[in-house]
Amino acid sequence: MNKLRTCVFPCAGFGTRFFPATKVIPKEMLPLVDKPILQYGIEEAVASGLDKLVIVTSKGKDTILDHFDRTAELERSLLERKKKDLLGEVEAVSTMVDLIAVRQKEALGLGHAVLMARDAVGSEPFAVLLPDDVILADDPCLLQMRRVFEETGRPVVALMEVAAEETTRYGIVAGENAGNRRFRIRDMVEKPKVNPPSRYAIIGRYILPPEIFSLLEKTERGAGGEIQLTDALRELVRTGEFYGYVFEGKRYDAGEKLGYLKATVDYALRHPELGAEFRAYLNALFGGNGKAEHDDAPRPAKRATT
Ligand code: UTP
Repeated sequence: MNKLRTCVFPCAGFGTRFFPATKVIPKEMLPLVDKPILQYGIEEAVASGLDKLVIVTSKGKDTILDHFDRTAELERSLLERKKKDLLGEVEAVSTMVDLIAVRQKEALGLGHAVLMARDAVGSEPFAVLLPDDVILADDPCLLQMRRVFEETGRPVVALMEVAAEETTRYGIVAGENAGNRRFRIRDMVEKPKVNPPSRYAIIGRYILPPEIFSLLEKTERGAGGEIQLTDALRELVRTGEFYGYVFEGKRYDAGEKLGYLKATVDYALRHPELGAEFRAYLNALFGGNGKAEHDDAPRPAKRATT
C-alpha cells in the first residue's frame, strides 16, 4: 500500500453564503481569531503527517498562495525594528509548507475541483480537506482517519452524527456500524428530503484512492449543474469496502455566517493570549446568566428590503 502523504484543498468556490464579505476576499482567507481559515486546515494536514499539499484555486484567489509565501520586505522591516516575536510568527507560516497550486478555471463543482488536482496527486492515495469545515479536536481529524486507512487500506470519509431534522442539509450515509467509531458505508444520499438512511453526515475530510479520478472523469453534471464528488463516491462504494469514521472533535461550518461566528467564539476562548480576557468580556456581557446586559447597545441598521 502506498503511504498517504498528499492532501488536496479545494479553494475555488465562490463562497456565496458569505457574501458580501467574500466578493473579493476568498473565504479561505477570512480570519478565525488571528489566522486565516485555510491555515487551520493546513496545520491539521501537516500534524497528520501529510507533506505534499495541493491547493485548488481560481482567479482572484492569489492571496491564498501569497499568505504561505516569503515576504522578504516585511521580514526585513520586522528584523530592523527588532520585532522578533512577530518575525517568528511570519516566518513560521512561510516555512510551514511548500504548496502546489493548480487552477480550476470554472467553478464546476467540488468533484471537478478534485479532478483538477489529478496530475499533482499522481497515482497515490490522497486526502481531501475542505477548509471551511473547521474541526477543533485533540487529535487532528485527518490523523484519526489516517489510522483507519492504514489499517484497512480502504477509502475513509469523516462522519458526524446530526439531529434527525438536520439530515436534509447533508450527504447522509447508508450502511452499518462496524465498531470503534467506524461505519461500513453501502451507499450515500445527498440531502435526503425524507427517510434518511442514517443520522451520519459526511463532513469535509476524505481519504481516497487515485481510482476516484477516472470515476470523476465519467461523472456527469448533477445537482446544481455541478460535478458532484458525492456522485463519484457512490460509484467508488460499489467497488469494495468503504468506511466512515465518526471523528472525535467539534466541527464548524465556517463557510457560512453563523458557523463562522460560533467558530470564532470557541477558538477565541481557547486562544492562549486572548482567551481569559475574552471569557471575562463575555461573562460581563451576559451577566453570567446567558442574557445580554447591553441589549440597548447600538445595532447595525437593518438592510433595506425592496
Ligand atoms: P462549498 O459549496 O462549501 O463552497 O464547496 P462554495 O461553493 O465556495 O460556497 P457557497 O456554497 O457558494 O457559499 C465546498 C468546497 O469545495 C470548493 C469550495 O471552495 C469549498 O472548499 N469548491 C466548490 C471548489 O473548489 N470548486 C467548485 O467549483 C465548487
